[in-house]
Amino acid sequence: MYSPNTARRTSLVTRVLISNIGLVGVSLFFLTGLFLVTEGSVLQRQLESRALLLAQFLANQSELAMLVHNRQELERTATAALSSEDVLYVVMTDPSGEAMAQAMHRDFPASELPNGRPSETSMIATFKSKQLPPGFLEAASFVTTHAGAEVLDWEAPKTGSSRMGVVRVGFSMAKQRTLFTRAVVAGIVVAFVTLLLIVVVHFLQLTRLLRPLRNLVTFAHNVGAGDLKQRAPMESLDEVADLTVAFNHMVEELDVSRQDLLQMVDAAQEASRLKTDFLANISHELRTPMNGILGMNDLILASELTEEQEEYATTVRESALRLMGIINDVLDISTIEAGRISLDSAPFAFEEAVSHVLRTLAFRAHEKNLELVCRLDPKIPATLMGDYNRLRQILLNLVGNALKFTERGEILVSAKLESESDEGLVLHFVVSDTGIGIAPDRQKAIFDPFTQVEASSTRKYGGAGLGLSICARLVELMRGRIWVESREGEGSRFHFTARLGRASTGAPQGCREQLTGLRVLIVDDNATSRKVVADLCHRWGLSTDVAESGASGLEMIRRANGTAVPYHFVLVDAQMPEMDGFQMARQLHLNTDITGGLIMMLNACAVPEHAKQCDQIGVFRYLMKPVMPAELVEAMLVAFVVAT
Ligand SMILES: Nc1ncnc2c1ncn2[C@@H]1O[C@H](COP(=O)(O)OP(=O)(O)OP(=O)(O)O)[C@@H](O)[C@H]1O
Ligand SMILES: [Mg+2]
Repeated sequence: MYSPNTARRTSLVTRVLISNIGLVGVSLFFLTGLFLVTEGSVLQRQLESRALLLAQFLANQSELAMLVHNRQELERTATAALSSEDVLYVVMTDPSGEAMAQAMHRDFPASELPNGRPSETSMIATFKSKQLPPGFLEAASFVTTHAGAEVLDWEAPKTGSSRMGVVRVGFSMAKQRTLFTRAVVAGIVVAFVTLLLIVVVHFLQLTRLLRPLRNLVTFAHNVGAGDLKQRAPMESLDEVADLTVAFNHMVEELDVSRQDLLQMVDAAQEASRLKTDFLANISHELRTPMNGILGMNDLILASELTEEQEEYATTVRESALRLMGIINDVLDISTIEAGRISLDSAPFAFEEAVSHVLRTLAFRAHEKNLELVCRLDPKIPATLMGDYNRLRQILLNLVGNALKFTERGEILVSAKLESESDEGLVLHFVVSDTGIGIAPDRQKAIFDPFTQVEASSTRKYGGAGLGLSICARLVELMRGRIWVESREGEGSRFHFTARLGRASTGAPQGCREQLTGLRVLIVDDNATSRKVVADLCHRWGLSTDVAESGASGLEMIRRANGTAVPYHFVLVDAQMPEMDGFQMARQLHLNTDITGGLIMMLNACAVPEHAKQCDQIGVFRYLMKPVMPAELVEAMLVAFVVAT
């Protein structure tokens, strides 16, 4: 199920709020800035015009006093002007710049008084002052005689005006600064309160808008959990309402489909149960007449028959046995599918279970000229608790398949102890072959019942396609798993694991110590087979040598005879190219200068003449391949006792 990464999740409300706060914040910042800049310049202009007005007023007032050089009157006018709280000083000068009258606020230091005359263009100037922050402003106005109309008819009008002096007025900027600071504080407070209001209103609006969506999410979770009976509540009449309607419609459809599906599943289960019951019954019914056919046929075979009749009856028996195998498989699969199968739990000899399977199939391996090799982990206890027959059934099918689908090469059956705990032992079996292999896309399907890699393989190799699916179910019951590794044309490796119990009685270990230090030569053309037997001998403490052919084996025996320690045992494979096991044994038997050790014949198939031959050529013991560890050790111990 998809689950969002909650660690990195940011809610929709937070995201919208952040972006809106950003937008409104930036706008408010610029608006406040604009307001303050405007306010600053308005205040400045107000101060300047007040200063200019006062300077002009004083210039008008002092026109007459200037004309008559009445300094007292000028001083009085200047001092009167200081009564305005932000006037710092008033200076009146004649056109040459000499001061005619001057008055100064008590807080204004005389050293700060700017000197000089105003230019024609700039009648206003600002000055910085350390003692009077943030500085002051000076306005100047010329004192002039006013132009006027003529008094007499002949008199020309007075067109110009003449300058009699200058009035300079200093204005403090402190009040203007205080007003500006107040404007700044007011601007920021208004901006902040506006922002806060917008955020609160926005938050409330968004929460209200998203509530129906949240309810829809809870509803979807409930639907996901399987509650298809509920319907999403309609809370608003907007786009979310459309979504709610669509959701409810979808859930209704889902509910109907689920009901249909449940009915279909019930019907299918019932049909499958009926089919399984029928299969179980019919296979049971089929076995009864089949037993009759087999029994009667055996009686016919035991009676006096012509050669032709015996051949017919034998064919009937083989066909009936094959049919019985298929019926048993069908019965197995139907009991497994019906869940009626359970496993036995009884002590059994592990090696015997494996060897029984291999012996059953050894003849087929021999017929196809395939090497059948078995390698068992010595750590596996000799006696185990479990279902002997079912374990054999799994191995029989896997090794049977390996034989069926392999034309040349070898088949290796191995088992090792994978783990051991209070619950028991887990064994890992591998059956590998060098046969036709299985295409990757079919490797899973072959464990399903009635499935074969290709329909044509039924005709070519035979089989109902039930074996592996029975194996898979049995392995599951043994709390293990089964799988295959295979490459087309190169062979297959079938693996399965099985949990088995430990039996309280351990098998006797024998006196294997007696073999420690003895010398053995293994002569076999098949490398795997050679390695498996050599590993066994090595494990029992024997000093082991191997030879790939009869001739090289004979040479090694000859060389060992010349030393102080000749071979105690020579294990020879019966089937080898060029010189086979019988020829080699005959040479050892006839040739007196080769005393040789005790010889075991390992043969893939028991043929009565072979046993007779072995006796004639001095073979001590005749063992069947694949050789089982217990048999081999027992044979070697007996041979050693006989020889000493
Ligand atoms: N060792 C193998 N090599 C190649 N193909 C195999 C091997 N084992 C099984 N298969 C493929 O898997 C199919 C299913 O095997 P399974 O044992 O279930 O059925 P079967 O052997 O055909 O019939 P049954 O076992 O019922 O007699 C086989 O028909 C074959 O196509
Ligand atoms: Mg099979």
